[in-house]
Amino acid sequence: MSKVTVVGAGNVGATCANVLVTTQVADEVVLLDIKEGVSEGKAMDIMQTANILGLNSRLTGVTNDYARTENSDVVVITSGIPRKPGMTREELIGVNAGIVKSVTENVLKHSPNAIIVCVSNPMDTMTYLIHKISGLPKNRIIGMGGALDSARFKYFLSIALNANANEVEGIVIGGHGDTTMIPLTRFAAYRGIPAASLIPAEQLEKVAADTMVGGATLTKLLGTSAWYAPGAAAAQVVGAVLGDQKKLISCSALLDGEYGEKDLCIGVPCILGRNGIEKIVEFDLNDEEKALFHKSAEAVHKTNAALA
Ligand code: NAI
Ligand code: 2OP
Repeated sequence: MSKVTVVGAGNVGATCANVLVTTQVADEVVLLDIKEGVSEGKAMDIMQTANILGLNSRLTGVTNDYARTENSDVVVITSGIPRKPGMTREELIGVNAGIVKSVTENVLKHSPNAIIVCVSNPMDTMTYLIHKISGLPKNRIIGMGGALDSARFKYFLSIALNANANEVEGIVIGGHGDTTMIPLTRFAAYRGIPAASLIPAEQLEKVAADTMVGGATLTKLLGTSAWYAPGAAAAQVVGAVLGDQKKLISCSALLDGEYGEKDLCIGVPCILGRNGIEKIVEFDLNDEEKALFHKSAEAVHKTNAALA
């Protein structure tokens, strides 16, 4: 029996719970929110959908009742405020740090062995904060950002290549921020053929640029940040852990010398399995990519400094 708790029943949390149920990734899902009735209502709605689809996962909505989350294998933290048009993810730090801290303490009281997936923004800094306050081993804290950014990269690549999105490869590393993420265009490919050999350099650069502002573009269109792909990306990370998939997904991980950086969480290619981040894979970056990564790390360190 696998159990997952999703904290925050807003746009991203409810979507994550919905995907977990509809893909039957977890046997039992608990959706928790501080707002009276919201998680209960959304859980009921999702379970009625599961009934229509003939699915067997169980989802329960609770209002701030952490006892009901006990013994979760994975806890996804989505609680906190999202950005509005014109805001950066970094501007959310003041409010979200307090929320993420209290939520982490509460979930660990009831699920001391859980693997934590952090979604709340600024995600790299919130993931780092969870490390600082929990002291958990680094494999057990996963920041979700690269899974989403890589999906956006592959989406824009598939349009540029006029190809099926499932047949293109692309990965984004670095911070989960408009100016800090690094779509690795040199590694982008269509069925193993380098994208750089299939489309002009300017078009590939535009794919990277569109990816970097992918979240901001949606925030402008929607008036708040996106939720379908973010919720699905969080569920993808949970699925890789619960299914012991050994899947390579870009995640924010605590670095201790990998990629020449330490004492920060930032997006790097990770192998995810039942023990969380089982390995950080070090790609052979060229000098330009290394420079971009160090610049990105510098920016994440700067945001982390605001936690003090
Ligand atoms: P939302 O406003 O729809 O939902 C947030 C929910 O958190 C609300 O229902 C609220 O009541 C709840 N909440 C607030 N304080 C709480 C507490 N102490 N305990 C339990 N629940 C609490 O926001 P949305 O769109 O779901 O975004 C959630 C977070 O995820 C934001 O910080 C957003 O920036 C971030 N995000 C991160 C992404 C990523 O790739 N890492 C992608 C998309 C959003
Ligand atoms: C996103 O990338 C804002 O992190 C959020 O959609």
